[in-house]
Amino acid sequence: MNRLVVIIATILVPTGYSAAEVLWCYHDPSCNDTTWSTIASEHCNGSHQSPINIISASAVGDTNLTEFNFTKYRDNSTMKNITNTGETVKVKLTSGVQVKGGALSEAYDSLQFHLHWGNGTSVPGSEHTVDGTRYPMELHIVNSKSSLNGSTTVAVADSTGLAALGFFIEAMTGNATGSPPAWKTLTSYLANITLKDDIVNITHAISLDELLEGVDRTKYYRYLGSLTTPNCSEAVVWTVFKDPIRVSQDLIDLFSTTLHIDHNSTSALMTNVFRNIQPVNGRMVTTQGSPTTAPPVSGASTKCSSLGLMALAWMLLRV
Ligand SMILES: *[C@@H]1O[C@H](CO)[C@@H](O)[C@H](O)[C@H]1NC(C)=O
Ligand SMILES: *[C@@H]1O[C@H](CO)[C@@H](O)[C@H](O)[C@H]1NC(C)=O
Ligand SMILES: *[C@@H]1O[C@H](CO)[C@@H](O)[C@H](O)[C@H]1NC(C)=O
Ligand SMILES: *[C@@H]1O[C@H](CO)[C@@H](O)[C@H](O)[C@H]1NC(C)=O
Ligand SMILES: *[C@@H]1O[C@H](CO)[C@@H](O)[C@H](O)[C@H]1NC(C)=O
Ligand SMILES: *[C@@H]1O[C@H](CO)[C@@H](O)[C@H](O)[C@H]1NC(C)=O
Ligand SMILES: *[C@@H]1O[C@H](CO)[C@@H](O)[C@H](O)[C@H]1NC(C)=O
Ligand SMILES: *[C@@H]1O[C@H](CO)[C@@H](O)[C@H](O)[C@H]1NC(C)=O
Ligand SMILES: *[C@@H]1O[C@H](CO)[C@@H](O)[C@H](O)[C@H]1NC(C)=O
Ligand SMILES: *[C@@H]1O[C@H](CO)[C@@H](O)[C@H](O)[C@H]1NC(C)=O
Ligand SMILES: *[C@@H]1O[C@H](CO)[C@@H](O)[C@H](O)[C@H]1NC(C)=O
Ligand SMILES: *[C@@H]1O[C@H](CO)[C@@H](O)[C@H](O)[C@H]1NC(C)=O
Ligand SMILES: [Zn+2]
Repeated sequence: MNRLVVIIATILVPTGYSAAEVLWCYHDPSCNDTTWSTIASEHCNGSHQSPINIISASAVGDTNLTEFNFTKYRDNSTMKNITNTGETVKVKLTSGVQVKGGALSEAYDSLQFHLHWGNGTSVPGSEHTVDGTRYPMELHIVNSKSSLNGSTTVAVADSTGLAALGFFIEAMTGNATGSPPAWKTLTSYLANITLKDDIVNITHAISLDELLEGVDRTKYYRYLGSLTTPNCSEAVVWTVFKDPIRVSQDLIDLFSTTLHIDHNSTSALMTNVFRNIQPVNGRMVTTQGSPTTAPPVSGASTKCSSLGLMALAWMLLRV
């Protein structure tokens, strides 16, 4: 069976994917995320997988986590086209969009963004969770180390080859509809890409800054992990921002009511397109602050007893 899937995959996958790419899905028990560690075992069964549940009280302070510098995020003409991939909605960015700073080792090129969701606002579908809370949606901006010249093959072979920026999306409170305007514009394209592999050029002026409005981009969690879809390469420096983007409920609902997972409209609507959380396996999650403002995950008291005591005191004050 696996062999058959791999053979089919080599015929059907679009160019740019390796021949080893397997057919995977979110919906069918034969290929949903519980099977990925078997059908794409090379990486999906690894020990540094994403997404994870972030335990906010265990995030370790790190003064190195400075602010980012975003290039062309204010530019309203960087979004090229928007595609229904059958698993998500992906927006391709023009070249020259970059992110640096934020303790990244160098500049990274922002290549595309895509989204994960559940079933409207009633069934949340973010990939990361914070203290067990799942948000309605999560936006991922995928960035590749600039020195690798846009080669994703090289990037996935480097443990920090990619940098992903994760933004939670939450429903606005109140009765607002069609808001914010940039999200209204972006989601207006969903009606043009209802079927898998549909793609249209983006002709409206929209900037990344407008989509990310309301997020304090100096407050984030950082950890090392993986792509959240097969082949799950462990090549990703994850940044998960604490503040959510607020989008009106009607626009959130459009994702789960407009898009189909296959080439005809009798196929299922695209819902619950997120991977379940993966084991942390002792990885450290860091955030802004000095190391003493948050208790270490484990073992720090053996390093420095006063530090351990301070952490303990901090914990007692919190609960
Ligand atoms: C995923 O597949 C497993 C079996 O492989 C099944 O038990 C589970 O219910 C499926 N989950 C979804 C959401 O389809
Ligand atoms: C993951 O799968 C690979 C290939 O099937 C295997 O060599 C490896 O031992 C597996 N790793 C784990 C942690 O199960
Ligand atoms: C912060 O950066 C310095 C210099 O690059 C490094 O030596 C140190 O280990 C970093 N601290 C943490 C907590 O990563
Ligand atoms: C897009 O940005 C350009 C340059 O900053 C500006 O002149 C133009 O008015 C913007 N267009 C819209 C629709 O905001
Ligand atoms: C979509 O935009 C990307 C990035 O500019 C480009 O490589 C690709 O050819 C475009 N696809 C279509 C169908 O226009
Ligand atoms: C960000 O850009 C500003 C202005 O161009 C510069 O002063 C600052 O050093 C940059 N920070 C980083 C982390 O690159
Ligand atoms: C999503 O929600 C709609 C309306 O609430 C419901 O009809 C549909 O069955 C749900 N889909 C899934 C996959 O749960
Ligand atoms: C990227 O391009 C530069 C300049 O063309 C070259 O020096 C460098 O070796 C390339 N790096 C990779 C990883 O291909
Ligand atoms: C929302 O709309 C309902 C009915 O239209 C109204 O009763 C309610 O006060 C509105 N709520 C807010 C927060 O505007
Ligand atoms: C998207 O669909 C609308 C309504 O059907 C249509 O007017 C518009 O031309 C389409 N845009 C593109 C880029 O295909
Ligand atoms: C989409 O944009 C590309 C250039 O970026 C252009 O070559 C192509 O003709 C456009 N497609 C449509 C349908 O307008
Ligand atoms: C949609 O796909 C199904 C099976 O994949 C097929 O039976 C049906 O004829 C298709 N409908 C159209 C309108 O192409
Ligand atoms: Zn993603």
